[in-house]
Amino acid sequence: MKLHLSDSRIDRVLLTGDEIAAQVADLGSRIVADYAGRDLVLITVLKGGLFFLADLCRSIDLPLTVDFMAISSYGPGAESAVRITKDLDDPIEGRDVLMVEDIIDTGLTLNYLMRVLRERKPASLAVCTLLDKDVRRLVDLPIEYRGFRVPDRFLVGYGLDLDGVWRNLPYVATLHEEVWER
Ligand code: IMP
Ligand code: MG
Repeated sequence: MKLHLSDSRIDRVLLTGDEIAAQVADLGSRIVADYAGRDLVLITVLKGGLFFLADLCRSIDLPLTVDFMAISSYGPGAESAVRITKDLDDPIEGRDVLMVEDIIDTGLTLNYLMRVLRERKPASLAVCTLLDKDVRRLVDLPIEYRGFRVPDRFLVGYGLDLDGVWRNLPYVATLHEEVWER
């Protein structure tokens, strides 16, 4: 299987690698300005968030640590339940937590995770998402750092997958509608 644009299932490139890199650098400098002198930990949810986090943390010129969670969600839409299949390695009590996400869609997953993390009493808790599919949002969720607003299309690349594949595309692309049916 070819991974690049010759794959006929890919419709078009929505965000090029260069556009993403410029936005990541910008988010990084805003985070540096806001978190200088604090005790920053970047957290993401495997596997999609890993790619953004890896680039973002290298544009943050501050001491920081990274930690990871993994989840599985089951059930449709608003009734969907989230189970943590891999928890953080370290406590976050008293630390400045930045939750790093590849994409926020309905917001239900992140809303659940934010509740779980808040119970652990971090000094602060904020969200940085690369992509925001905000027309689909079902819960009110403050987002401190946002890379791009994106349309209600199924996206792949830069961490986003369809059935586990396409995460390693260096850009974000839309698929033809018939490939992905909700
Ligand atoms: P939410 O709970 O609806 O916000 O779900 C967010 C999760 O859904 C993301 O972390 C992705 O795993 C997945 N997701 C949402 N939209 C897309 C997409 O366009 N492509 C790939 N995965 C997506
Ligand atoms: Mg995800």
